Amino acid sequence: MKITSLSPPATAIAIFTAAVFALTATAHAAQAPPRPMRSYPAPKNLKVLPKNLTGQQVHHIMEGWAGSLGVHCNTCHAEDPNHIGPNGRPRLDFASDSKPEKSTARLMVKMTRDINENYVSMVPVKSGEPTPKVTCGTCHRGHKDPEPFVIPHEDRRGPEGMPPH
Ligand code: HEC
Ligand code: HEC
Repeated sequence: MKITSLSPPATAIAIFTAAVFALTATAHAAQAPPRPMRSYPAPKNLKVLPKNLTGQQVHHIMEGWAGSLGVHCNTCHAEDPNHIGPNGRPRLDFASDSKPEKSTARLMVKMTRDINENYVSMVPVKSGEPTPKVTCGTCHRGHKDPEPFVIPHEDRRGPEGMPPH
């Protein structure tokens, strides 16, 4: 259908529609600009995680640890005073081993692995049920230092109403 063959009102509508379409498209583009993919550099100082992990995979694991402990990255990673970020604060030097929490976290990775490989994997499970697994969150539950467990009062009874030992 050629615009020249249309009656003047139809032409106006066609042009109007095209203009609205163009505007909507522009608005849409403004709302959702193509975001550049964040790139995560390949790790260079892994001692307990597999050395062939990509930067993206390491980042994913790190978000899990931070969430399990209820902390931010800077709990384990030291600031690099020579690299100031766009917010005016020093960037974190992820490869640095200067924070004791990072060393403790490495110990924890080895401990968790040992618990799973040498103990939890021995627990009998019904066929078809998944192998149970201990994770950082099993103990930490969103806290840097796992909270001491207090037995709820109503459960403080031994067999046949006997007091607990
Ligand atoms: C509970 C402590 C802890 C927290 C929280 C943590 N990390 Fe880590 N991170 C580590 C440890 C330990 C390693 C080294 C692992 C190894 O030796 O295999 C590491 C390694 C890394 C590396 C690789 C550095 C390199 O070049 O080898 C990056 C990148 C990183 N972390 C980013 C992050 C980010 C981003 C966050 C926050 C979302 C974060 N980390 C939170 C403990 C932590
Ligand atoms: C079996 C229980 C258990 C598991 C599993 C566990 N942790 Fe821990 N973690 C502890 C205990 C207990 C402490 C000592 C807390 C304290 O000092 O009060 C601790 C301490 C830490 C600390 C030092 C906190 C501090 O205050 O300096 C870090 C960091 C940590 N764990 C990270 C991890 C990460 C990461 C994982 C998973 C890879 C993990 N933990 C798995 C029990 C556990």
